[in-house]
Amino acid sequence: MCDEGLSVVRLPWGACPREGEGCSLDFGFWILDFGLKYFIQTNRQSKIQNPKFHIATAAHRLGFRWRARRERKRLRQSENDDARKLAEALAATLDEATDDAETAAWIQRIEALRAALLRSEDEVTFRDYGAEGRLKAARQPDAPFRETTRAVKAIGRDAVPPHEGRLLYHLIRQFNPARCLELGTSLGLSATYQAAALATTGGTGQLITLEGGTALARRAEKHLDRLGLTGVEVVAGPFAETLPAVLQRHRPIDFAFIDGHHDPAAMRAYFEQLAPHFADGAVLVFDDIFWTTGMRHAWLALAEDPRLRQAADLLTVGICIFSTETVV
Ligand SMILES: C[S@@+](CC[C@H](N)C(=O)[O-])C[C@H]1O[C@@H](n2cnc3c(N)ncnc32)[C@H](O)[C@@H]1O
Repeated sequence: MCDEGLSVVRLPWGACPREGEGCSLDFGFWILDFGLKYFIQTNRQSKIQNPKFHIATAAHRLGFRWRARRERKRLRQSENDDARKLAEALAATLDEATDDAETAAWIQRIEALRAALLRSEDEVTFRDYGAEGRLKAARQPDAPFRETTRAVKAIGRDAVPPHEGRLLYHLIRQFNPARCLELGTSLGLSATYQAAALATTGGTGQLITLEGGTALARRAEKHLDRLGLTGVEVVAGPFAETLPAVLQRHRPIDFAFIDGHHDPAAMRAYFEQLAPHFADGAVLVFDDIFWTTGMRHAWLALAEDPRLRQAADLLTVGICIFSTETVV
C-alpha cells in the first residue's frame, strides 16, 4: 500500500486540480513561469534549431519541477526511510546549485553528447518494437513490427530531458542499487546518466539496458564508450525475447527504469513480469506516465498496487518503492 497515498493532481484526463493548501498558488506560479519561459524562448528563436521541441521541453520541465517540489514536501513529512531518501533525491534533482564537482562534470559531458546528437545529420535504420511500431496498415495486434529509418536528431528528441536525467542520477546516488535494469535504451542518453551515477557510487553497481533496435543498441554502446562509461551491458532485441534471459542472469533487480513500449497494457505486463525479480526496496521509475490518457490511468492504478510501499507522481515520471513483504 502506498504510504500516505498519492497526492495526484487530476487534470482533464482525471478530474479537476486537487483542492488544498497551496494548490492554486502552485498552479498560478506554473502558468506564470511557463509564460515567461515561452516569451524568452520565442525571442531567441533565431538561435534555436527546433523551437517547438525547446518549448515542449521547457513546459515538461516546469510541470516536472512543480510536481517534484510538492512531492518533496509531502515525502519530507514522513518518518519513513524510503520517503526520506526519495525526498533527498528530489531535493538534489531540483537544486542544481548543490551539485558537487564530479556531478557537474558528468552532467556537462552528457549534455554535450546530447547537443551533438541533436545536431547530427546521421540516420539510423532499425526495427521499431514500440507502441507505434506495428505496421499501421495492418492494425492487428500480431502485425509485424516495421523497419524504420529515422534521423538521429529526431531520436535524440525522444530521450529523457536533462531534468529527468538528473532524477535518475540522483535516485541511483541516493539508493545505491547493485543491479539496475533499463527497458528502452535508444541512443543511450538515460543510460549515461545512470551509468555515471553508478561510477560515482564505487563503480560496483551494474546497468543492463535493453533495446529492440540493434543499430540503436550499437550506437548507445558507442556513446557510453565515448564517455568512458564501461561495464554497461546493452542487450539488443525485443523485450519479449530478451527480458526473460536477462532476469534469469541478473537478479534481484534493485533499480528499474521503464522507458520503452509506452502502452498501458504493456506497462502493467512488464511490472508483473519484473515483480518476482525485484529486491525488497527496489526503486522503479516509469517514464511518460503523462503520454496518453491510457498511460495516465495505468500509472494511477499501478501506484495503488499493494506491493508498493511508496509512490511519487512527478506528472511525467512515476517513482515507486517495491516491497517483497506484501503477500497478494
Ligand atoms: C523513449 S525511447 C528510450 C529513450 C531512452 N531511455 C533515453 O532516454 O535515452 C524507447 C525505446 O524503447 C525501444 N522499445 C520500445 N518497445 C520495445 C520493445 N517491446 N522491445 C524492445 N525495445 C523496445 C524503442 O526502440 C526505443 O528506442
